[in-house]
Amino acid sequence: MKIFVLTGAGISAESGMGTFRDKDGAWARFDPMKLASPEGFEADPDLVHAFYNARRQKLLTASPNPAHAALARLEDGLGARGGELFLCTQNIDDLHERAGSRHVLHMHGELRKARCMVCARVMPWDDDLGRDETCPACHSHGTLRPHIVWFGEVPLYMDDIQHALEDSDLFVSIGTSGSVYPAAGFVNEARYLGLRTCEINLEPSENAPAFEERYYGPASTAVPEWVDGVLKVLAARG
Ligand code: APR
Repeated sequence: MKIFVLTGAGISAESGMGTFRDKDGAWARFDPMKLASPEGFEADPDLVHAFYNARRQKLLTASPNPAHAALARLEDGLGARGGELFLCTQNIDDLHERAGSRHVLHMHGELRKARCMVCARVMPWDDDLGRDETCPACHSHGTLRPHIVWFGEVPLYMDDIQHALEDSDLFVSIGTSGSVYPAAGFVNEARYLGLRTCEINLEPSENAPAFEERYYGPASTAVPEWVDGVLKVLAARG
């Protein structure tokens, strides 16, 4: 069995990372165009760096929750039976990796990485980022930015994502409002390709009607319950 899992901010909410569109979410408090767009970065790089520096420091003190751990178990359980988990996340945190997931595609980039706007080198970065940094690769000054895909920029790994959807049997969306494309359109592509579809979320997302199966509740309980059910079916098949 090959399963494609898409995760969003909701899977990291119980790890304290917050979401974007919930009533207390980031975009309920800040203007995304000022903080998560190339134009906003151009206009006020110090404001954007400060926003992501604060989120990066918060991430360094956060821990994965049982939902992240369950997906790592699913990756092992599928692999042990000749199956495969393709884990694609919209999240910029590394909580999937810290929970033990080995293959994670960050289609919106990664908070603990920086990218040079001159040489395009991507490098691990846990300190505060600002305009005074020098690129360790090309030694340009003040040319580092967060390695994050902002509004109006092209998400990463779209070819790999398309191929994985074409190769999977089941599409599962976890902890996302289904309001940002292209990720919000993956369920339609999955249906077109004949995959079964499942949504696991705190509440119905914007494209809930597109999903055949739907489970609602906090990810830290709903995801482990779902994963345990899948692993039980796989074990029964032998
Ligand atoms: N368990 C499960 N789901 C939850 C939980 C929880 N504890 N808490 C919140 N949710 C759900 C909300 O109901 C909502 O549907 O998670 C979803 C979060 O939606 P958004 O805040 O819109 O986050 P996301 O869908 O990941 O946003 C997509 O938008 O701003 C861009 O690049 C950013 O990757 C982000 C993209």
